[in-house]
Amino acid sequence: MSPRPVLWIPRRLSDATMARAARDYDVITPEHDAPGTADEIVAMSGRVDAMLPCHSEIFSDAVVQRLDPRLKIVANHSVGVDHCDLDALRGRGIVVTNTPDVLSDATAEIALMLMLGAARHAVAGDRMVRRGEWDSWSPAFMVGKQVSGARVGIVGMGRVGRAFATMARGLGMEIHYHNRSRLSPEQEQGATFHETIETLLPQADFLSLHCPATPQTVDLINDERLALLPRGAVLVNTARGALVDEDALLRALDSGHLMAAGLDCFKVEPGGNPAFADHDNIFMMPHVGSATVRTRDAMGFRALDNLDAFVAGQEPRDRL
Ligand code: DGY
Repeated sequence: MSPRPVLWIPRRLSDATMARAARDYDVITPEHDAPGTADEIVAMSGRVDAMLPCHSEIFSDAVVQRLDPRLKIVANHSVGVDHCDLDALRGRGIVVTNTPDVLSDATAEIALMLMLGAARHAVAGDRMVRRGEWDSWSPAFMVGKQVSGARVGIVGMGRVGRAFATMARGLGMEIHYHNRSRLSPEQEQGATFHETIETLLPQADFLSLHCPATPQTVDLINDERLALLPRGAVLVNTARGALVDEDALLRALDSGHLMAAGLDCFKVEPGGNPAFADHDNIFMMPHVGSATVRTRDAMGFRALDNLDAFVAGQEPRDRL
């Protein structure tokens, strides 16, 4: 690779990230901020040494097999890498990295917001005041579900799950979790470990998902598992839409078994699920868990740190 490698950045990243990238690389950026298509990714692979994509650029096996050998590294600007066929990329000798740690707090904050908003009728309340429809008050009006002191079940106790647990603990919640392996007592901080998701669910007045989307976790939350939640539970998903069977979620909400849901992720993105639109008890955000100024800069810098290390012949910190 030349001392000044060519880098494709398909999306418009933070100003600080773009400035730093331009300092050290010959950067190619698109005129419009739109997801890079399969054909663009393939075409660009013959022109660049490195790519710095987001989760919106899909490196499926079919795409990876068409990549030009010039491309050496895909330094992702995301922690989730379900948009990348890792085996295929590694099979082609392409290094892949991600950006863990730096977005944990921002994502946990969105989970917290969705949990609180879903529990306290944020969608209906905001709309009522905004439209001038707030014309009476009664003690039985918009009564929600109290979060403080309630039990929260966390699926996936990686960095984001643990950041969320810290925040939930601050609200006086009782923490239960399911994870592939049990945390150390220092990390657990009194949380109750459940070896299976089935024993976790009945303890979860609120359930928050923080595990990656893999072939094993697709539709992890389905009819059977939703039925195991206590009646009136609230589901929060800031991880990936693939984790939730959305038809099952609607059935659970419509039957009253679930009180509400808070979703930042959907099976179809962008766009979401049109069937959710008339449900005031679904508090939705458009996949913006990590979207804060500080975190966007940190993600860009972490991706560039990985790229710099690779170019310097070192092992990138977040190589997958
Ligand atoms: C991630 O980093 O995985 C977030 O979902 C944003 O892409």
